[in-house]
Amino acid sequence: MAEDASLLGLAGRRVLVIGGGQGMGEATARHVSQAGADVALVDLVAERAEAVAAIVRANGTRAVTILGDVLEDAQIPRIVAEAEAGLGGIDALVSIVGAARWGSLMETTGADWDAQMALNLRYFFLVSKAVAGGMIRRGMGGCIVGIASVDGQRASPMRGAYGAAKAGLISLVQTMAVEWAPHGIRANAIAPGHIVTPRLYDTPHRQEAYAASLIPLRRRGTIEEIGKAALFLVSDLASYVNGTVLDVDGGQLAANLFPGGLPGANG
Ligand SMILES: NC(=O)c1ccc[n+]([C@@H]2O[C@H](COP(=O)([O-])OP(=O)(O)OC[C@H]3O[C@@H](n4cnc5c(N)ncnc54)[C@H](O)[C@@H]3O)[C@@H](O)[C@H]2O)c1
Repeated sequence: MAEDASLLGLAGRRVLVIGGGQGMGEATARHVSQAGADVALVDLVAERAEAVAAIVRANGTRAVTILGDVLEDAQIPRIVAEAEAGLGGIDALVSIVGAARWGSLMETTGADWDAQMALNLRYFFLVSKAVAGGMIRRGMGGCIVGIASVDGQRASPMRGAYGAAKAGLISLVQTMAVEWAPHGIRANAIAPGHIVTPRLYDTPHRQEAYAASLIPLRRRGTIEEIGKAALFLVSDLASYVNGTVLDVDGGQLAANLFPGGLPGANG
């Protein structure tokens, strides 16, 4: 195994990845399976989930794939039940699905707002509740990881509903961390900065030149770096980490750049 399984404590643990078919979800599945965890992969696209399942199995652990849409409330009990049945229980949830809709506050309609809350916050609440219910019934504890964003912690011009939803996710994770701690369940969020993902790779506003002027480490992050953060949070290395936001942003939030820019970035 590439990771030290004894230190991470993930051998034989069962990890459910929502949106496991590509990008951050794929990297998470790869890293936790290298550390010995079994993985249930939920995705809208069967071929994506199957491809990641093959990677997990090549790492020597079990994988189950579940085709489903977490934005449909009625599917959530079935999705979680299939994961529990397929792996014999769930010890950790890593929930990846989310996306920003671009537009100013003035351009954002009530329907846009609702859609952003559904895609970035509401399903995460319902899936986490279903998974935590099983964890509480089994009495073995567990952990939950949601994907927030730097946008949930500062103003998010041109994606205000997204930022509000991610801020809500952070608050929700803190409440889970408090309400479910008596059951041995930890809950945390990862806040990515600018990450190169399959979906966003070619988006012009994410180009490296832009990143180099905004991000202290002078580059965008990788899905590997998000997968490793998820690996840490679900592992025993994070056994006393509960209710936190782990910024994985190259120092973006720390920099407070406007209006001067990074030292040397503007010549
Ligand atoms: N890329 C960045 O720079 C960045 C920055 C901050 C936060 N984020 C957050 O990171 C997360 C991952 O974003 P991404 O672009 O890598 O993900 P993505 O859009 O590539 O989605 C990951 C997987 O989820 C699946 N999926 C999408 N909707 C689903 C649904 N309703 N039900 C089941 N599966 C579904 C997709 O098929 C895909 O395989 C999001 O929450 C996003 O808000 C990204």
